[in-house]
Amino acid sequence: MTDPDVSLEHSAGKTLERPRVLSGMRPTGRLHLGNYMGALYNWVKLQHEYECYFFIADWHALTTDYADPSRLKQNVYDLALDFLAGGLDPDHCTIFVQSHVPQHAELNLLFSMFTPLSLLERVPTYKDQQEQLREKDLATYGFLGYPLLQSADILLYKPDYVPVGQDQESHVELTREVARKFNFLYGPKGTPSVTPDNNSFNQNDVDYARNIDDLLHTRTILPDPQVLLTPSPKLPGIDGRKMSKSYGNAILMTDPFSVVMEKTHSMSNGGQRPTQYDPGNPEICPVGDLHRIFSEPSVDAHIRTGCLTATIRCDECKHLLGSAIGSKTHGILDRRLRLEEDPDRVWGILEEGTRNATRRAEETMREIRNVTGLSRDRSGVRVATPTYGPGSQTNVRDLTIMKAWWDLDSPTLLRNMREQWRADLVPTETALKKDTEGVWLTRNNRRVFSTASTEHEGVDGLWKFSVKPKSYEILVLLCWGKDFLMHDFVVPQKLYVSQWTAAKKAAGKNDILFSVEREDGRYALRLPLSEAIDITATESDYAILGT
Ligand code: TRP
Repeated sequence: MTDPDVSLEHSAGKTLERPRVLSGMRPTGRLHLGNYMGALYNWVKLQHEYECYFFIADWHALTTDYADPSRLKQNVYDLALDFLAGGLDPDHCTIFVQSHVPQHAELNLLFSMFTPLSLLERVPTYKDQQEQLREKDLATYGFLGYPLLQSADILLYKPDYVPVGQDQESHVELTREVARKFNFLYGPKGTPSVTPDNNSFNQNDVDYARNIDDLLHTRTILPDPQVLLTPSPKLPGIDGRKMSKSYGNAILMTDPFSVVMEKTHSMSNGGQRPTQYDPGNPEICPVGDLHRIFSEPSVDAHIRTGCLTATIRCDECKHLLGSAIGSKTHGILDRRLRLEEDPDRVWGILEEGTRNATRRAEETMREIRNVTGLSRDRSGVRVATPTYGPGSQTNVRDLTIMKAWWDLDSPTLLRNMREQWRADLVPTETALKKDTEGVWLTRNNRRVFSTASTEHEGVDGLWKFSVKPKSYEILVLLCWGKDFLMHDFVVPQKLYVSQWTAAKKAAGKNDILFSVEREDGRYALRLPLSEAIDITATESDYAILGT
């Protein structure tokens, strides 16, 4: 007989999930057609095929606009509106604001510990942008760290793919190097003993770490995300230069039709056709470039021959372009206007997205805090009076100061032990709710039963338990003895469910009597009438309680 919850756990395996995608955009005002075609248009398609996370990178905006944050929040809101108007659907993807998930900053800080300055100085966008934005002082720590923050953005969600334009490829490349270095430093043991060169990520070290990883089939902590290069067609602005907000030559995704018409009519034709009797070349005309992207093939063909043979006038050609763009954008504008009337809905979508993203991000951070010595529980901290064999200090909890408990009656002692466990051993971010005595509920309503061994004077390494014949999703076994030291095992149902079912049947109305035994540094759960179950790995493992 299988327990429904156990089979659920199996179906949550990564193999059954869709590949994950993450990308972000800085909030710099309303999106223009270049932004739309270069990113959002592609994201909208991806959301149906992948598990997608899309966010608004407000911290990244501050790296260059720190001196004037007055428009930042408005820009964030505007970008959220544009995301939704452009077709991102909160039922199909997670949309959130970067700074609302502070785990991004936490991971950025951790990465900064081992990222050599020289590596960041070598990222090509660093110098390029400094030169292009000369009016701003970008000789800052934050701006140098721009691509490292981006690495944190990405790796926090462990995506398979990162859809970006070519200008961002170097940042994803850095991300992959950061991930490898992280895995090298903190990944599962068995990695080589050579220490990586401190001034750069030495390629040999990195390759070695990766190969060893493959060889040992160990699970690396951070993935190796791939760029999903967004095809970005040549998209000129109305003056013929690349469409860009700072050139003031952009057609917005949500320009009203009349404005689109006005803008297309004022477009440069590349200085061709001195008179309308002269033929032109649509291949070197910005109007021709935009036709190719936005017009139906028949219209596109019509203006091309018309231009080459001087049988179409430029204003007619521009008019056709305005109509083509308008027919593609009017739905977007419509949606934007409707959303503007419902700000509660928009903020609600961001809040929901933040919750979703936080859950995913926190999952990664727990893992990362664990391997960097920053987890919030007490495991691994040496206690004052280690009396067990070598190495046994880790995970042993010291109850010496609670000595007085030993004179209490056993129900009170048990109650104290449970409360102590809840207060001191369960990581603070685990939101356990007390249900009935001994029973706690996790955030997703799994029943946790915690109980302590029964004998004051038990033999060390043999702890006896007596438990009502009921079912629990997670069994917490607090093993303590006359030496005042305690071991805590957090045992998921799937480990013991069949033996438990048999024991329950045999016990009838009586308590199930069982024990935990230590042998050679391993711990076994021994239920009546069955083989011992190794529970060593469950010691102090609170990850399964969730957050
Ligand atoms: N730097 C990106 C840009 O300017 C925005 C960004 C920030 C991003 N974090 C990211 C993109 C993470 C992809 C993944 O376009």
